[in-house]
Amino acid sequence: MITVLPQADLQPLHTFGLPVLARALVTLTDAAQLPQIMQLPEFNMNSVLWLGGGSNVLFAGNYPGLVVRMANRGIRLIEERQHEVVIEAAAGEVWHDFVQYTLRHGLSGLENLSLIPGTVGAAPVQNIGAYGVEVQSCIESVCCFDLTHGQFIRLLADDCAFAYRDSIFKHEGKQRYVITAVRFRLSRTFVPQVGYGDLARIVAQMSQTSPLSATLVAQAVCHIRQSKLPDPRILGNAGSFFKNPIVDLSVAQALLAQYPQAPHYPQPDGRVKLAAGWLIDQCGLKGHQIGGAAVHDKQALVLVNKHQATATDVVALARYIQTMVADRFGVMLSTEPVWLAG
Ligand code: EPU
Repeated sequence: MITVLPQADLQPLHTFGLPVLARALVTLTDAAQLPQIMQLPEFNMNSVLWLGGGSNVLFAGNYPGLVVRMANRGIRLIEERQHEVVIEAAAGEVWHDFVQYTLRHGLSGLENLSLIPGTVGAAPVQNIGAYGVEVQSCIESVCCFDLTHGQFIRLLADDCAFAYRDSIFKHEGKQRYVITAVRFRLSRTFVPQVGYGDLARIVAQMSQTSPLSATLVAQAVCHIRQSKLPDPRILGNAGSFFKNPIVDLSVAQALLAQYPQAPHYPQPDGRVKLAAGWLIDQCGLKGHQIGGAAVHDKQALVLVNKHQATATDVVALARYIQTMVADRFGVMLSTEPVWLAG
């Protein structure tokens, strides 16, 4: 039985906490309900929004279409080998709880991605990444419902076009594939990935008193995140608000000639990734506020809902930051969360 809520309040369903309504809301608890949802009069393949934990979406106003909240749960073992397993988690599982589950079962691979807000089903969409690891490295396949053909399919990782904060689900698969579950290939043998600056330092400190393990790395990651990133339950936010820009080598060299201390990360294709947080910070924008929206004072890449922010405040602040950074550094920042028109 599917219940359709008209004029539904979306404020508690996305982590930025903006006061917006959806034309209609359905909560899906079983992927088998998808064919029925397609039959609803409110359903329109081009405008339906599939919502996970709402940690990577920003509403520019009321949502004029149907919102389907993916709340299906379940974790199951698919395949067990000597050193690795394939494990499937339903799209509606809470990401951090799933990471904890894998650690409790002696599986490693996802520890660097601890405490990322959102659900399992949202993880492949933007190929979530942190502390030197992107989720694509552990994804075996993504289970989807193909709205075009009305059938359940499974896309292998190689078919998902994963890239930095990007995948097929942001492009040609956007209104076509509904992610129902994700299969992960995880290891029983722990291989630490602690090359990322801050993490290397904290893990080195912690491993003086406890043995180095996936759980210890997860604890170190949680420690760093909690010290820099606001908890969305306390201060509304959508994680990093802009992508770290990837620029041509000549652009990076010109910047480095002027600012030798600028963080920069050479990419395999010869281009260079810059730290958007550093660029914003250099413009003196930490703490800058427009209406109720502000730049987080501990990490300039995160915008927060300081006090009853409206969608207009967030749009104005984002545009202001983009203009300041473009004027000073000649680099255009693009937004990381998905913007949804009102
Ligand atoms: N920096 C500043 N000032 C700031 C923020 C950053 O100078 O206000 C400098 C830092 O000192 C550092 C560099 O910029 O030298 C990079 O900062 P940080 O290590 O905090 O990481 P980030 O590049 O800002 C990215 C991800 C985060 C992820 C961290 C850790 C993106 C868009 N963001 O942030 O992901 O947690 O690395 O791996 O790639 C997210 O996507 O929502 C997210 C939080």
